[in-house]
Amino acid sequence: MVISCWGALVRKLMMMKPKVVFVLGGPGAGKGTQCVKIVKQYGYTHLSAGDLLRAERNKGATEYGELIDNHIKEGKIVPVEITINLIKRAMEETMNQDATKDKFLIDGFPRNTDNLEGWNKNMDTNADVKFVLFFDCSNEICIERCLERGKGSGRTDDNISSLEKRIQTYMQSTKPIIELYEKQGKVRRVDGAKSADEVFVDVQKIFNAEN
Ligand code: C5P
Ligand code: MG
Repeated sequence: MVISCWGALVRKLMMMKPKVVFVLGGPGAGKGTQCVKIVKQYGYTHLSAGDLLRAERNKGATEYGELIDNHIKEGKIVPVEITINLIKRAMEETMNQDATKDKFLIDGFPRNTDNLEGWNKNMDTNADVKFVLFFDCSNEICIERCLERGKGSGRTDDNISSLEKRIQTYMQSTKPIIELYEKQGKVRRVDGAKSADEVFVDVQKIFNAEN
């Protein structure tokens, strides 16, 4: 009796655990663009760490505004204590509004060891990381796309001096995280150099196989 109740509870808790797909790739690799398409077709909730940080910065009055602003311009990764709280809060808000919304695309995270440690400390037992969707794209194409986006994005980091730093951060800090997940067999690699529609064909194959 006790055991069967326990089993039911464990099953219930497991069912309630949100499912997470981390979305990684260089700046301009197509993470955000593809996430919008995935949301439409597969019913995930898209949480972009960069968007969450920009929104927090734009609140102006918060104590972290200036720190976030400087990190973004410099292409540096914001301390995870800030980022993980924003992600956690956004996940909780989504699930509180609708408990069936338990599938998340977490875009642009974990971007370095600090991010990964923060996730493991705060979220690892509270969420199931299903896989890492990796948009593989050359630095040249990434830079070209971000410069093009910079003409209308209003972003303070879509300019050549910030981009050089962002690419450097990506190569030094994010690539090793992708390699770490690769060793665990968790990376689903997509060629991000193709057009958005072509990339999505490959993305669909991955999600159809996983779901
Ligand atoms: O992903 P996105 O290009 O929107 O990220 C923009 C910037 O936001 C990054 O270059 C970085 O400064 C910051 N960021 C961060 N930590 C993350 C994701 C983004 O500090 N996990
Ligand atoms: Mg983005």
